[in-house]
Amino acid sequence: MEDIWQSAMDHAVAVARKAGQVVRDAAGGVHEAAVMVKSSPIDLVTQTDQKVEKLIIRALKDKFPTHCFIGEESVAAGEVCVLTDGPTWIIDPIDGTTNFVHTFPFVAVCIGFAVDKQVEFGVVYSCLRDEMYTARRGKGAFCDGRPLHVSRQQDIRQAVIATEFGSNRDPQALDKIFSSLKRVVSIPVHGVRSAGSAAINMCLVASGCVEAYYEIGIHVWDVAASSLIVSEAGGVLMDVEGGPLDLMSRRVLAANSRSVAERLVKEIDAFSVRRDDDAS
Ligand code: IPD
Ligand code: CA
Repeated sequence: MEDIWQSAMDHAVAVARKAGQVVRDAAGGVHEAAVMVKSSPIDLVTQTDQKVEKLIIRALKDKFPTHCFIGEESVAAGEVCVLTDGPTWIIDPIDGTTNFVHTFPFVAVCIGFAVDKQVEFGVVYSCLRDEMYTARRGKGAFCDGRPLHVSRQQDIRQAVIATEFGSNRDPQALDKIFSSLKRVVSIPVHGVRSAGSAAINMCLVASGCVEAYYEIGIHVWDVAASSLIVSEAGGVLMDVEGGPLDLMSRRVLAANSRSVAERLVKEIDAFSVRRDDDAS
């Protein structure tokens, strides 16, 4: 088994690099007319997202024709989003589409691979910065081959916390997002940051640049690959209310330690959003 997944991971890294090259070549040349919207006027998608997802799935299916696939743009086009126990590739061709449209430099190609609903390896290619983050279960997390470790800071008052506003502009959700933000800022923490890509926020936790990241409204493809990068770098993952992370729940809290995570849980005004696997 071991060797099968290692060669699958090597292939995923090569595919992510190729996909990232296509994204990089397209960045800066996105015309207003080429930007479309999905769930809300600020949930953006471009032809590059769609083209790159097709490229990734074709390259993976060629080698693994019997595997399952969950891809952001395939789901947007009507495919089901179900995580079974079978080998499943979970793909976001561009995490940070708004960044891509504006050439803000945090844009990632994400490829996660799960078996029995457990992520076996994760690849996050921060393609505008040419940084390749990888993790394999039980074997550590790396950026361009350098081992990653989360920050050792245990005092939340000396922490930097990442979060995002997402693309949900429902007034009740926004009230909760802002009340959580106010409580976190008021702890007080050293600072709050938003990279504009869930996967890159998670890689920043894994790299020790920020102590934690939380968000309600993400999708499984934004965080599947990067969740393993965080845990293999020594970090913890949980739900924003403190239970175990549920990849389909659209809620995530990643932190350098349980104590920082649990402190944040106390400040987050949690709410539920429609799950990724809710087909109703
Ligand atoms: C989004 C980004 C953003 C986060 C959203 C995600 P996308 O992914 O990760 O930072 O706030 O929740 O959906 O749409 O660029 O793939
Ligand atoms: Ca995306």
